[in-house]
Amino acid sequence: MTTCDFTLIMAPLQGFTDVTFRNVYAGHFSGVDEALAPFIPTMGQRRIKPSRLMDVTSQHNQAIPVTPRFWETRQMTSSSWPGNWRTWDTPWLTGIWDAPIPKLPKKAGSGLLMFPELVDALLEKMIPRIPVPLSVKIRLGRKNKEEIHDLIRVLNRHPLDHVILHPRTGIQMYRGDADLDAFEAAMTACVHPFVYNGDITETAFFSRVRRRFPEIRKFMIGRGLLTNPFLAEEIKGISSDPARRLIRLQHFHDDLMAAYSARFSGPGHLIGRMKGFWHYLGPSFKDHHKPVKKSSDLLLLRPIPTMCPISLTRARSFSPDPAKITSCSHQVLC
Ligand SMILES: Cc1cc2nc3c(=O)[nH]c(=O)nc-3n(C[C@H](O)[C@H](O)[C@H](O)COP(=O)(O)O)c2cc1C
Repeated sequence: MTTCDFTLIMAPLQGFTDVTFRNVYAGHFSGVDEALAPFIPTMGQRRIKPSRLMDVTSQHNQAIPVTPRFWETRQMTSSSWPGNWRTWDTPWLTGIWDAPIPKLPKKAGSGLLMFPELVDALLEKMIPRIPVPLSVKIRLGRKNKEEIHDLIRVLNRHPLDHVILHPRTGIQMYRGDADLDAFEAAMTACVHPFVYNGDITETAFFSRVRRRFPEIRKFMIGRGLLTNPFLAEEIKGISSDPARRLIRLQHFHDDLMAAYSARFSGPGHLIGRMKGFWHYLGPSFKDHHKPVKKSSDLLLLRPIPTMCPISLTRARSFSPDPAKITSCSHQVLC
């Protein structure tokens, strides 16, 4: 087994990396050490729904330890903090202030990054009331990357566990490249440990980031794991049989589909959820430029014996490219 001196964290991806995905993923792939749960909106709620809690309690997250996340704004005070939050049994929480959602309320998500004084007040109120370490996940700013400077000054005043930075602005959404220079400037100015997040989709880019920031011990990967579920194994140099990649991928996909079909009430929900995964997984296959838009695109073929109505290898739109899907660099980066 390869021992690595860095940690790979599965990023929170709302609608994707929930407890079902994380558990199925961990049954088929290794290399991911921890996960951050997709955000739990707490604004104005007195109580978090039990189904939301299931996503973050350790009881349901034995395979990959998970950290709960909440999405909060300045309104959060001790009285608005959900009453049942103490049932969260994980070591630390993270606040989300990087959501790039365009129609976000002005001072929520990455919008809050434009108001460092509000972040200051929020942390001031929250930290004494939370008996576990708190970290934050941020972007460089909402409108421009200069916003990070005032924000870092504020973060430096509070005892945070770490800062996860995705070096883009909120309005940038996912366009352009992750700004490594801006990441470096923010990290240098900050007293807290940094976690790198953004655009790790292949081992070469991971190596580049690692070489540039040797002091960073934790890296967060989101979309890259959806497109290439083998990515964490590749980064860690965990050897696997290239000839079995396609079959492993198929088993993973079919188990994922079975797990969601057991959870969702109708085929519409199931197809809706799986379409998201197909969108990201598609580039691993040749002909991926032809997107799957409707279930009929998949030419649903014979149901496999489980609850799963579609078998990946039987879906003609997904014509596997053996050269691509079986290629594995086995590059040891740790
Ligand atoms: C579909 C989608 C859903 C996301 N949901 C969340 C979320 O719930 N909480 C959060 O903090 N970030 C969320 N993010 C941001 C990711 O966690 C991550 O910061 C971003 O995708 C950059 O990392 P990557 O380039 O490795 O994907 C989401 C991103 C995407 C694309």
